[in-house]
Amino acid sequence: MEANPKYRKLFEPGRIGTMELKNRIIEAGMGTSLEREDGVVDDRIKNFYAERAKGGVGLVTMGVGAIDHPNGKVLPGQLGLSDDKFIPGLKDMADAIHKNGAKLAIQLQRGGKLATEDLCHGCQPKSSCCTPIPLNDAMLDMGAMEIPRLMMRFQKMPTQMVTVELTKDEIRDMVDKFGEAARRCKEAGIDGVEIHAAHGYLLSEFLSPSCNKRTDEYGGDLKKRARMVLEVIEAVRGKVGPDYPVWIRIDGYEFGVPNGITVAEAKELARLFAGAGVDAINVSGYGGIRGGFYDAPLCYPRGNLVSLAEGIKRVVNVPVIAVGRIDAAMGEKILRRGKADFIAMARAVLADPEYPNKVAAGREEDIRPCILCYHCVSQAFWGEPVFCSVNAAAGKEEELNITPAEKPKKVLIAGGGPAGMEAARVAALRGHKVTLCEKGRRLGGSLVFASIANADNEGFLNYLIKQVKKLPVDIRLGVAVTPALVDEMKPDAVIIASGGAISIPEIPGSNRHHVKTGKHLRQFMGGNAEKFDWWWKAMMSFASRIMPFLLRPPVVRLLTRVWMPIGERVAIIGGDMVACELADFLVKRKRKVTILETSTDMAMEMSIGRRWSFMQHLRDAKVTMLRNVDLKEITLQGVKIVDGEGQERTVAADTVIIAGGMGPNRALSEALKGKAPQIIDVGDCSKLRLIHGSVEDGYRAALSV
Ligand SMILES: Cc1cc2nc3c(=O)[nH]c(=O)nc-3n(C[C@H](O)[C@H](O)[C@H](O)COP(=O)(O)O)c2cc1C
Ligand code: SF4
Repeated sequence: MEANPKYRKLFEPGRIGTMELKNRIIEAGMGTSLEREDGVVDDRIKNFYAERAKGGVGLVTMGVGAIDHPNGKVLPGQLGLSDDKFIPGLKDMADAIHKNGAKLAIQLQRGGKLATEDLCHGCQPKSSCCTPIPLNDAMLDMGAMEIPRLMMRFQKMPTQMVTVELTKDEIRDMVDKFGEAARRCKEAGIDGVEIHAAHGYLLSEFLSPSCNKRTDEYGGDLKKRARMVLEVIEAVRGKVGPDYPVWIRIDGYEFGVPNGITVAEAKELARLFAGAGVDAINVSGYGGIRGGFYDAPLCYPRGNLVSLAEGIKRVVNVPVIAVGRIDAAMGEKILRRGKADFIAMARAVLADPEYPNKVAAGREEDIRPCILCYHCVSQAFWGEPVFCSVNAAAGKEEELNITPAEKPKKVLIAGGGPAGMEAARVAALRGHKVTLCEKGRRLGGSLVFASIANADNEGFLNYLIKQVKKLPVDIRLGVAVTPALVDEMKPDAVIIASGGAISIPEIPGSNRHHVKTGKHLRQFMGGNAEKFDWWWKAMMSFASRIMPFLLRPPVVRLLTRVWMPIGERVAIIGGDMVACELADFLVKRKRKVTILETSTDMAMEMSIGRRWSFMQHLRDAKVTMLRNVDLKEITLQGVKIVDGEGQERTVAADTVIIAGGMGPNRALSEALKGKAPQIIDVGDCSKLRLIHGSVEDGYRAALSV
């Protein structure tokens, strides 16, 4: 295929050592825990990586290969590299990747203080020296029910929550293990290995002055701290010879880590490692939990780590790999400007394995975008396999493969939110005759509101709308599915995606004029200003009929920066994810916000990885978050409460928003009982499913028809 000229550089062949790659896109290492606990390759993990190879990356990197399996694991499922018994499985994996036109590498890794699997089995992890294990940090912002969930991982508690310093004999043994692991990879036909010396794992704990406090030849100045890694490089080279591609992943900077690796030190380390014979440097970064995942390695700001790669490229003469929320357009610029030689992507190809092929074919609008929900990586924290909120098939490639329907059927879908649109997309791809009815005037359902409050969701909203419009789906807006319609259409299957019911708690005073509910706000964004002044009603009605673009999420976000019918001081009743995202939306519009939550938990629907950073961001933005409050009454002055300390007081507010909770809504499925051979409830109408559950429900329903 002729590559898209816009991305000439991205699709130019490249080399890492002797390894030739067809393009400059690397799938960055991802620890998925889709692997079996015994570390042997099976079909599930093979299919996961084969799908990414098929999607067009030049190189697939398997995450965290365990050189000392089963010791030092950071996830329950990691591929084993510690014994020759793993070689046949690795060979199978290499074949599967090669058949799909990509090259294959694996990370050589051993956990140190983050070796949670050691901890869960009652062992104190080994590290460069004796350091506390940061479990308390991880528990920050965790919900009451999540702590037992975390504790369930512990089959036995270690005697002390500190790491054990490796002895020199153990260091030598570990160095040998890295070498032996590389030999096995080479024997298995894997094209190269990446030494993992980043992200708080064992080797980076030697490199980082924040945790390496040793006083022997493995600790102290930079050269001494680099000694173990240099020995690993030597051992690996010794086993695989000079021509086998070997490179290293390092942290270009440790964000928010007191006394962490500095930019200057990272450059010096890169120079040392290049001098010791690695074929490339992959420049990542690290941030502690409190520093935030939002800085690194899973950075939130686009290209947050590019300048680190650029700085290192200036001081080494081997290729440099840049990573960190880099999309194709940014990747092309980075390559053209000579800031790096390769671009690594993780979340983009998790969300859409076909990302490179779609870019190459100029089909960018068909790319399913990552919504930055951090669910994928948070799974690691719970010791569970990766999933992706927007890509139901991630990690279930075989089970959820989209195959043509044996017999095309008439499928009626009620509701044009994420579950309904995903069901329509997949059913249409399978060849069914699909009708999608949405009772409102536009597609999107709850995803529209979610995209206004959080712009990261909007790409996915646009993607779904584009897909259902492109596919042969009969879209009927302003049409509600009713028993009469079903009688008339006689579908073979009805998929009900009509959304949940928002339940509003009974609070005295909730009918006052300055009180809005989550439902009112959603209606408002949809063009129905029921609970607002007459002139707002008229304006919104005009906008929704005559100028619907005014209600598009980016326009609403922009216009509400200038004005919106919400007072200066806002009390939000309820602290779920929607309420917390709304608080963020409002503080960005200069409102003074107080969240009133009756329990201890806030934003529980948010992945833990995102919650750590998001809640900190709300604290920094001076959002007042009151937990365990007893709500007494909404008055003209605000909300009367008894706070967590038992003090009765009024939280002053000009506007009170009752976020309310989402409950199931089975009214339509009850009304349609017996009216079609197959009736399936999906998304929030069955139970709270949010984006990831709705997408999976819609996808599965379409496969089951
Ligand atoms: C689910 C998931 C698992 C990851 N596991 C690893 C890993 O095993 N090894 C590693 O070096 N980085 C790992 N990362 C970090 C990625 O390699 C990458 O550096 C990071 O996600 C930033 O790239 P992105 O913005 O393209 O996602 C992981 C990322 C994700 C999303
Ligand atoms: S789970 Fe969320 S953050 Fe991870 S790749 Fe999917 S959409 Fe992106």
